[in-house]
Amino acid sequence: MKSCWIIYNGSLTSDKFVDQARLVAEAAERAGVQAMIIKNYEIVMDVQTPIKDAPDFIVFLDKDTLLARYLKQQGIPVFNDPKVIETCDNKAKQYIELAKHDVAMPKTIVAPKVYPNFSIEGHGYYERVLETLGLPLIIKEGHGSFGMKVYLIETKEAFDNKVNELRGVDYVFQEFIETSRGRDIRVNIVGDQIIAAMYRHSETDFRANITNGGVAEVVELTTAQETLALEAAKAVGAQFAGVDLLFGPDDQPLVCEVNGAAHIRNLLNVTGINVADAMIAYILEKLG
Ligand SMILES: Nc1ncnc2c1ncn2[C@@H]1O[C@H](COP(=O)(O)OP(=O)(O)O)[C@@H](O)[C@H]1O
Ligand SMILES: [Mg+2]
Repeated sequence: MKSCWIIYNGSLTSDKFVDQARLVAEAAERAGVQAMIIKNYEIVMDVQTPIKDAPDFIVFLDKDTLLARYLKQQGIPVFNDPKVIETCDNKAKQYIELAKHDVAMPKTIVAPKVYPNFSIEGHGYYERVLETLGLPLIIKEGHGSFGMKVYLIETKEAFDNKVNELRGVDYVFQEFIETSRGRDIRVNIVGDQIIAAMYRHSETDFRANITNGGVAEVVELTTAQETLALEAAKAVGAQFAGVDLLFGPDDQPLVCEVNGAAHIRNLLNVTGINVADAMIAYILEKLG
């Protein structure tokens, strides 16, 4: 009998993280795999000592990228691959990768690394950003989920305040896609297959995230949306991906982001499709 570990971040105490781990563990058990749910800090990353009782594979639902890398180095197959988790975990890195593969997305500028005790105001940099993107624009921190670190910047004053506040933080500036205000599509991909998708919309916020007040419904994807979502997952090398798509002018799709550890509970509730079964089937096929 094969065995696996499902790793999530134990310091995120909201129920949804352990719920996500349970969904995957139950799918593994259904497929005849013995599954153990493990919190990231239950493993001691003693880098010189081999791990005891290693499982046949790991489903890594966390963004503890160092732990993912450590486990892979121990010879255990980790899904997603740690490199993908690293790329997706940092939105700036991710957009550079998407652009390299010519994936359609909003115009994006990666902010320079500026140390907190220095200001680049008055050096002409911000003026160039504003000339390129105009207002309103989006500022997105490199690390953030559930819409919590995504800001709609409508005035020069809000812009100045936010860039000052974010000194020392990785972030990007992005064109605001007005035609997508408060709405997007989440597409879940396993391997090179689309497993499920939902349309999310919010009446109260420019962000469509369900955690942020959005509501979701089943959606039939257009061919353009399907093609772009698959292209985006492939561009970052993701085997499991939750791709967010925006509605550009004339409804042409644009990639908003690729999540390397996408939550699957809402998709299950909305569509009745349990992505975890597809994830486990994919891994078992890969491992042979
Ligand atoms: N460039 C943009 N134009 C319009 N809306 C956006 C843009 N970027 C993000 N959004 C909205 O904000 C939400 C959160 O952004 P996203 O990049 O997916 O970050 P998170 O990782 O927090 O989900 C998206 O689901 C979308 O509704
Ligand atoms: Mg998102």
